[in-house]
Amino acid sequence: MAAVPSSRPRRFPDGFVWGTATAAHQIEGGNWNNDWWRFEHTPGSGCQEPSGDACDSWNRWSEDVDLVRNLGLGSYRFSLEWSRIEPEEGDWSVATLDHYARWCDRLRERDIEPVVTFHHFTTPRWVADRGGWESDATVDRFASFVERAAAHLGADRIARACTINEPNIVSFCGWLLAAFPPGKSDKDLAREVGDRFVTAHRRAVEAFRGAVAGVPVGLTLSMAEWVAVGETDDARAAAQARIDRTRALMEDRFLAATEGDDFLGVQTYSRERWGAEGRLGPEPGVEQLAMGYEYWPDALEATLRRAWDCTGGRVPLLVTENGIGTTDDAQRIRYLHHALGGVLRCLDDGIDVRGYTCWSLLDNFEWAFGYGPRFGLVEVDRTTYARTPKASARWLGSVARNNALPASIP
Ligand code: GCO
Repeated sequence: MAAVPSSRPRRFPDGFVWGTATAAHQIEGGNWNNDWWRFEHTPGSGCQEPSGDACDSWNRWSEDVDLVRNLGLGSYRFSLEWSRIEPEEGDWSVATLDHYARWCDRLRERDIEPVVTFHHFTTPRWVADRGGWESDATVDRFASFVERAAAHLGADRIARACTINEPNIVSFCGWLLAAFPPGKSDKDLAREVGDRFVTAHRRAVEAFRGAVAGVPVGLTLSMAEWVAVGETDDARAAAQARIDRTRALMEDRFLAATEGDDFLGVQTYSRERWGAEGRLGPEPGVEQLAMGYEYWPDALEATLRRAWDCTGGRVPLLVTENGIGTTDDAQRIRYLHHALGGVLRCLDDGIDVRGYTCWSLLDNFEWAFGYGPRFGLVEVDRTTYARTPKASARWLGSVARNNALPASIP
């Protein structure tokens, strides 16, 4: 007999971790000493606008912590800005490390787990100028940074560590799409850089565990629901073959690199439609979002299932990013409700999903798209930087406090 849709709230497992996330360059402001700031100011880069003061979170971090607490969320994922901590090779800023330590301490005081990302898209200028991720020396430099920063923050502060955020996106967008620094389009280089990120992740796990014992560490990976489209079986088979080849580079080699990790962070927003000739755009009739992809909350269930299958269930999963860039906050609530329904279905089937992190706490700098796309649970006034929680913040906070998904949404 088909499952009767529940009219009651659906509970998540005890201990399920509810959180939200940001990244240094997208919220802090004034991160001039990295490759992204230079890229934003490079004519022809395609960036809509520079990051500038972002959300002024370098100064307003205490307000941000209180926002997370007032939402009722139990974890906050943020990233360390390497170029602030090591502005020149071997030149370590203890003051900056202390700043991030105070951030962690305040989160802990508010019973919020600090989830620290060591690389979230940005690389110091001095590293980029010495070959960046095209050079093996960068793997050593990154491992040294991870070790130094992890040792300074320590096990009492860091609840979970994410080594590299979306290495697949960085290598694809930076070396093939030319939409990220260094703005290249070279298939072989993109493949090589992706492989180097795999090595860098493994070295970072080793460096982190050497500095901080007993704290879970893993990778965060951008994943999509990939769909083969075609009028005939042969056309769909050809489309699937292209998907398999592309996904092997975009996802599978990174999934394989999580062997031995403490968790895998799955980050999903939408789906990819592919035909026999390559990537297709959004399906006619399916709602399209500001960033050009489909409104597709089903994607999260699909990627959690694939991540679990591909890793053989060896690595616990965390949703470390999921959300929607929209000015329609009611649409955000609908998206989150639908996506979380998919998480519950995965849990029903025994998939070990330990938590859910909504991207993002704040409307922030959406990379080459600038400040247009609004992913925040909290609105940020672009002039005064005043924070105003949205209805979606209150809705997700209620889900987190109840640890249960209501059957319907307002
Ligand atoms: C990413 C990054 C975030 C983005 C978010 C919305 O996944 O691309 O981690 O920095 O802002 O995903 O696109």
